[in-house]
Amino acid sequence: MSKMVKGFSRFTKEEKISWLADNFFQDKEKGKATLHQYLNDDKDLQQLHDEFIENTISNFYVPYAIAPNFIINGKPYAIPMAIEESSVVAAASLTAKFWGERGGFKAEVLSTVKIGQVHFTYSGSKDVLERYFSSVKEELIRSTDEITANMRKRGGGILDIELRDRTQDLPDYYQLHVRFETGDSMGANFINSCLEAIAHAFKKEGIFIVMSILSNYVPECLVKAEVSCKIESFFPEDPELYVRKFIQAVEIAEVEPFRAVTHNKGIMNGIDAVILATGNDFRAVAAGAHAYASKDGRYRSLTHAKIEGGYFKFWIELPLSLGTVGGLTRLHPLAKLSMEILQNPTAKELMQIVAVAGLAQNFAALRALTTTGIQQGHMKMHLMNILNQMEANLHEKELICEEFKGKTVSHSAVAESLHKLRTGH
Ligand code: MEV
Repeated sequence: MSKMVKGFSRFTKEEKISWLADNFFQDKEKGKATLHQYLNDDKDLQQLHDEFIENTISNFYVPYAIAPNFIINGKPYAIPMAIEESSVVAAASLTAKFWGERGGFKAEVLSTVKIGQVHFTYSGSKDVLERYFSSVKEELIRSTDEITANMRKRGGGILDIELRDRTQDLPDYYQLHVRFETGDSMGANFINSCLEAIAHAFKKEGIFIVMSILSNYVPECLVKAEVSCKIESFFPEDPELYVRKFIQAVEIAEVEPFRAVTHNKGIMNGIDAVILATGNDFRAVAAGAHAYASKDGRYRSLTHAKIEGGYFKFWIELPLSLGTVGGLTRLHPLAKLSMEILQNPTAKELMQIVAVAGLAQNFAALRALTTTGIQQGHMKMHLMNILNQMEANLHEKELICEEFKGKTVSHSAVAESLHKLRTGH
């Protein structure tokens, strides 16, 4: 058997698994059994999953959880989250409760414009190119008429096409910079199809199309979420001190990239979990969010905090390109259910919910970091992972969880307790 293979995608699933087992598994039967264990018994459902991507051999699970009690613009939500990291959902739930008792979250969509570009080179006169562009601009838009018909009926479509001269950055490099409104769909396929049609219609001698592709940087597809409360109600003991420490923690993330990356990673814990649970593209959102965090030339915090008129205010502003129709959102059974749990939101409502999940996560992290430290909560949630790694049974888990209540959890301390429990010394 060879570790290289030809025509793999044409193998049946069983053939793929056998080839993999023969070449890469240490224990063939155990590996095969694991793959089969996670295949769905419902053949139609499994086929649906298989057809999302190529070469499917099983399903990869992450926990699917609910963070209840979120109040957003006065409306209650239970937010579905798909994530493997312990403590993220617990943190979201605690924060929802905390802010629920203080008026809840407010969120608003600031803009919903998406971007796509046709990248091309042209070595002739710029004036000639500009005249050509002006003369064909309407035709370029018309070339997408068939693709945009449905979207236009729903109030979307192409907003504008601009010719951009980028020859200062790269010899002969120009772009058609296109702005889109895609309503409730994320619009990736729609945008890419339009761009390819535009590029085709734009072609002429001397213009060399390099590529046509949407941008995942969407600084005009922005949402803001915020919370605020009287300083006195922030923290029972010494609210002034803790508000000050909290704001300092945000300020540090605004000036120090090493901290800002971790700070924003914590925000993405909440954002990605909801995006994954609703079948949206978390890679696109992450790439766009991090680019936005660097928009003024330095990587900074996506959240901000201040005191104003005796109130503590904390908010997030970030770009989120999301869809509630199309893609996996209505195809993946759990994504569909997530939409139902979220009361079938519009794309704008989903942007608000996701931004709130990010803000909540950052609030929980900063509150822990500036008070007890992060490890207390983290290790408590991590205790179960450690016990599972050590293959503790149900009874052992109960006893050890009881023993570690209020105590610091460490890998070695848990190992020692489990050893004592099993051996009696
Ligand atoms: C861990 O996944 C996320 C945190 O590190 C975020 C933060 O430090 O703000 C806790």
